[in-house]
Amino acid sequence: MATGNKSAKTASKTVRMEVKNEDMSERKAHDGSRHNGTIQPAKGKLGVMIPGMGAVATTFVAGVEAIRKGLAKPIGSLTQMGTVRLGKRTDGRSPKIKEFVPLAGLDDLVFTGWDIFEDNMYEAASNAGVLDQRLLDQLKPFLSSVTPRAAVFDHNYVKKIDGPNVKKGKTKMDLAEQLREDIRDFKKTSQASRLITMWCGSTESYIEAGEAHQSVKAFEKALRENDEMIAPSMVYAYASLMEGVPFANGAPNLTVDLPVMLELSRRNEAPICGKDFKTGQTLMKTILAPGFKARMLGLSGWFSTNILGNRDGEVLDDPGSFKTKEESKLSVLEHILQPELYPELYGKMCHKVRINYYPPRGDNKEGWDNIDIFGWLGYPMQIKVDFLCRDSILAAPIVLDLVLLVDLAKRCSELRGLGIQEWLSFYFKSPMTAPGLYPEHDLFIQLMKLKNTLRHLKGEELITHLGLEYYD
Ligand SMILES: NC(=O)c1ccc[n+]([C@@H]2O[C@H](COP(=O)([O-])OP(=O)(O)OC[C@H]3O[C@@H](n4cnc5c(N)ncnc54)[C@H](O)[C@@H]3O)[C@@H](O)[C@H]2O)c1
Repeated sequence: MATGNKSAKTASKTVRMEVKNEDMSERKAHDGSRHNGTIQPAKGKLGVMIPGMGAVATTFVAGVEAIRKGLAKPIGSLTQMGTVRLGKRTDGRSPKIKEFVPLAGLDDLVFTGWDIFEDNMYEAASNAGVLDQRLLDQLKPFLSSVTPRAAVFDHNYVKKIDGPNVKKGKTKMDLAEQLREDIRDFKKTSQASRLITMWCGSTESYIEAGEAHQSVKAFEKALRENDEMIAPSMVYAYASLMEGVPFANGAPNLTVDLPVMLELSRRNEAPICGKDFKTGQTLMKTILAPGFKARMLGLSGWFSTNILGNRDGEVLDDPGSFKTKEESKLSVLEHILQPELYPELYGKMCHKVRINYYPPRGDNKEGWDNIDIFGWLGYPMQIKVDFLCRDSILAAPIVLDLVLLVDLAKRCSELRGLGIQEWLSFYFKSPMTAPGLYPEHDLFIQLMKLKNTLRHLKGEELITHLGLEYYD
């Protein structure tokens, strides 16, 4: 990481000199040194490009339009509703996050997408069945105008679905070139000043990183040779990063969690983050587990099961796609509870996750958790959670926040060359980190990390919650 940081900082220094109208205030870093980080203003339109125009993508886009029209509120979005405390508790300074850092406004967002089906956003949202049809009808002219570009798709990676709207090319490199052309075309036609790619496509079959993913050189050779280790989502990621466009991954696929993508991301100053939106059951897990650990309560087992009936549920009915999801869901407890540090409390825990495709439920998933905990002298207790959640309703505000914050990262001299944006772990089930670093899963640590990053970018004191000074 160290070498990359250095080169990124050198590169960003040059860029800094050229940027006009920037926030040039001198800032104090967390280590006490002074430095001049810069944040370019959020000028012009922000183009949001979404591979996968299904339930999550359409709930997000329809939601943004409903909010713009004053029909609804951005509930669940930290960037729109959240505040950040600055200075001492007695200072009374808690601006809204969107007023504290320069984020794109909702009115500045423009959209495009890719899908294997030909439905426009209105039709796709109607099929997804998440939002009320009356609301969708009010948004129909806008939603109908967002039509899918032909997808890069490989049935071997998503076995349960197939569709007609798919690009043809001799090699995967040809397909990547076609995606790059789509990106340039969208930039031109939408007149966006900045772009971001947000993967909302289906979960792909489980694979592990191999030779082809180790460097840009190896990956490009593999693209030309149609290597089966290159999944479609990686072709989108490659195309975006080659165009200098940041890429956020909402599914558990490897996609940008690969050395090749880190290399490209740093080289082209296009931030990356992932994986797998933290909604529903895993959100509950990362809220509850830190509480058990904080009180030193033991955990002998956690059994999680789900029923869901949307297309995502159908895709996850395939063992290959489920394995990708399972890996992402299972790692959470181990990392939060740290059994290696607390063997008496968490050394023997049994953690199981099941997902059952059950069509009558549609997007309205039900997640049950049976949690076996133990307390003082080892006495057992049980907690049952029955979360009747709406998956895409929980995911949509995450998509909005990621779009705005990743775009912010791209405009920050200090962040854009770093590659992985670990400060956005808050939004992911399986957060990407620098190689060799374990991910931080505790939702509250993740929130502190996010807000402290914003404070740091703006030269505000970090908040440690020490607070002894109030008693001097
Ligand atoms: N809904 C949630 O709460 C949630 C949480 C975490 C992760 N996710 C992940 O987000 C993704 C989207 O979820 P969803 O509920 O919208 O699923 P969905 O099935 O409704 O939508 C996915 C869309 O992606 C399309 N697609 C598949 N492969 C594609 C490709 N190569 N190129 C372009 N389009 C492609 C499909 O045709 C489909 O329309 C899934 O991977 C899911 O696992 C969702």
